[in-house]
Amino acid sequence: MSGLTSNIMRTALLSALVFTASVQAQQAQDAQAKDAATALPQMGFNNWNSTHCRAEFDEAMIRGVADKFVSLGLRDAGYRYVNIDDCWANWKRDQDGNLQANPERFPGGIKALADYIHARGLKFGLYSSAGVSTCEPSEKNRGFPGGLGHEKQDAALFASFGVDYLKYDNCNNQKIDAKQRYQAMGEALRASGRPIFYSVCEWGENKPWLWAGDPAVGASSWRTTGDIRDKYTSMVEIFKQNVVLDGYASLGHWNDPDMLEVGNGGMTHEEYRTHFSLWAIMAAPLLIGTDLRKIKPDALDILLNKEVIAVDQDALGVQGKRIRDASGIHVIVKPLKDGSRAVAVFNETNAQHDVAVSAEELGLKASGAYRIRDLWQHSQSQGDGSIKTHLPAHATAMYRISAM
Ligand code: GLA
Repeated sequence: MSGLTSNIMRTALLSALVFTASVQAQQAQDAQAKDAATALPQMGFNNWNSTHCRAEFDEAMIRGVADKFVSLGLRDAGYRYVNIDDCWANWKRDQDGNLQANPERFPGGIKALADYIHARGLKFGLYSSAGVSTCEPSEKNRGFPGGLGHEKQDAALFASFGVDYLKYDNCNNQKIDAKQRYQAMGEALRASGRPIFYSVCEWGENKPWLWAGDPAVGASSWRTTGDIRDKYTSMVEIFKQNVVLDGYASLGHWNDPDMLEVGNGGMTHEEYRTHFSLWAIMAAPLLIGTDLRKIKPDALDILLNKEVIAVDQDALGVQGKRIRDASGIHVIVKPLKDGSRAVAVFNETNAQHDVAVSAEELGLKASGAYRIRDLWQHSQSQGDGSIKTHLPAHATAMYRISAM
C-alpha cells in the first residue's frame, strides 16, 4: 500500500470515527432531552372522570378529543397524552390470548386510534389492571380481562399498538403482593422495545411511594389515594392525603392524587381554580378529565393557565411543601429551578378570609426586595416578599416570588 493510499484511508477512518462520535453525542443529547421531558409530571387527558363506562366513550369521542388538543391550544400548552381508561377492551381475549378492542366502541381497533393520535403530534395511553380482570364489570364477566399472568404478552401487544403510556389498576388482584405484580408489568414494559410511561394505580393501599419508583418496578407515577369525585369535599380530602407525601416525589417519580375534574360541573369556578392550583403546586400529573368537545370557556381558561402549568412542570422537580395548616388556611411553597418560589394560599373554609404570610414564614431572607407575580390575576408587584390576600370561601391565590 502506498503512503498516499494509507494516508487517505487513515483520514477516512478518522472522519468516520469523528462522525460516529458526533452521532453518538447527538443521540445521547436526544436521549437526555427525552428523559427530561418524560421526567416531568405527565400532562394529558383521560376519559374516565367524564364518561366512566358509558356508551359515549368510544372511538369518535377520543378522536374528537385529540382534535381538540390541537385546535384549543392544549398541545401547545404542554398537554401530550390522550389516554383511554377501563372498558376499551372486549370482554374476553382472542384465541391467541391477546386482548382485543371492544368492537362496538373501537371498530377501527387500537392501533388505528394510536396512529390517529400520533399523527397529531400527541401520545397515546391505555389502561389495564394488575389483576385477573379490571374494575368495571363487563357485559359478560366480572370485569374485562386483566394483565396478571399475561404481562409479557400484553406489554408486547401494547408496544405493537404504539402505546406510549400504561395506567395499571389494582382490581381483582388475588391478594398477590403489590410490588411483585407491578414489577412484573414494569419489567415487561421495559422488555417490549418501546418506551412506555408507567403509571401505577394502586390507590395508595400498599404505600406505593415507598417502592413503585424503584428501578425494578420503574413507575413514573403512582396513585396515592382512592378515586376523586367531582365534589369540593372529595377534592380537598384527596389534596390532604397527597400534600403530606412531598418527601417521596422527585423528577420522574410523582405522587398522583388522581385526575382532574375541572369542567365536569360539580364544583364552582373558584373551586376548580383551587383544584388546578393545588395539583400544580403538588407537581401532580395534570390529566384533564372532562370531555374537551364540550368544554366551556371558563374551564378551558383554567386548564390553559400557562403560569400555573409552569409551576407544575418546573424542571427542579420538587413537590410543594405545606408550611401552614391552621384554621382552614393552607400555605404550600414549591422551590423552582430559576431560584424563585411558587406559593399557593388556599382557604378551605366556607367563609371569606384576609390572609397574611410573612417573608420569614416563606423562608425568604429578611429585608430582601422581591417581585411577586400573581398567577391568576397575571399582575405584578414588588415588596419584601410577604403576601396579603383576600380569599373568598374555597379560593386559592397563587404567586411566583423572585428576588430582584
Ligand atoms: C379504578 C381507578 C379509576 C378508574 C376505574 C376504572 O377505580 O382508580 O381511576 O380507572 O378503576 O374502572
